[in-house]
Amino acid sequence: MTAEDNSCDTSDNDSGCCSVKNDESVNFSKHWRGVYAGSDISKLGWYEDESTPVLELIDACNLEKQAKILTVGAGATTLIDSLVQLGYGHLMANDISSYALEALKRRLGDAQEKITWIVDDITNPDILNEVTDVKLWIDRAVLHFFVAEKDQETYFKLLKNSVAKGGYVLLAEFNLNGATKCSGLPVKRYDAALLASKLGSDFVLQKAFDYIYTMPNGDKRNYVYTLFKRIF
Ligand SMILES: C[S@@+](CC[C@H](N)C(=O)[O-])C[C@H]1O[C@@H](n2cnc3c(N)ncnc32)[C@H](O)[C@@H]1O
Repeated sequence: MTAEDNSCDTSDNDSGCCSVKNDESVNFSKHWRGVYAGSDISKLGWYEDESTPVLELIDACNLEKQAKILTVGAGATTLIDSLVQLGYGHLMANDISSYALEALKRRLGDAQEKITWIVDDITNPDILNEVTDVKLWIDRAVLHFFVAEKDQETYFKLLKNSVAKGGYVLLAEFNLNGATKCSGLPVKRYDAALLASKLGSDFVLQKAFDYIYTMPNGDKRNYVYTLFKRIF
């Protein structure tokens, strides 16, 4: 699998070698292991040197430095490095791919000790079911891969079990003009209203904006960034 296969496509015509249909037959674990095992992380179609829009939204939360922050589908994101540098002391990083998290650990060096690592599938959670009292749930470019209704239901059930009253939910997904496929997988596109309806009335929208992300190959992709607060 090449970095090009791991780009995000706006056409319906995905002829990459790793194309799969995102139905019952998809083995997400195998797919993502292949992605991270075969690619230069800094060339992946979602890599960022700096997670600027996410960091701005986190800043708006005014969290205590010891607040429990869970990043789901963290991959090898540089966001974790930034959060460590900013002094956040209760970080949890999840991914379905242990390979991705191992790459992130290698980059972090000794700082990896400060983080709780959780290899688990958000669409079939085990360890994640035990994670509660989360003050900030962060998802960039993960939820949109769950096109099956049952996977979305499991995702939001887990989120609601995990996030504390008064806690925040940061969701950054492809917007309605966004890619139709990414990494060879079909995606579901969102806007703030659709995300709000999935979260339900316990969660109130604080901020939302569209954002154009530039991939390492220079192509642009349309995201919607949202921040919700749980009030009940
Ligand atoms: C497009 S990448 C985004 C990675 C990271 N959030 C970022 O912004 O760089 C999607 C990530 O979601 C992870 N992922 C996909 N399906 C998952 C699942 N069911 N459970 C947990 N992680 C999953 C993948 O392994 C991958 O790291």
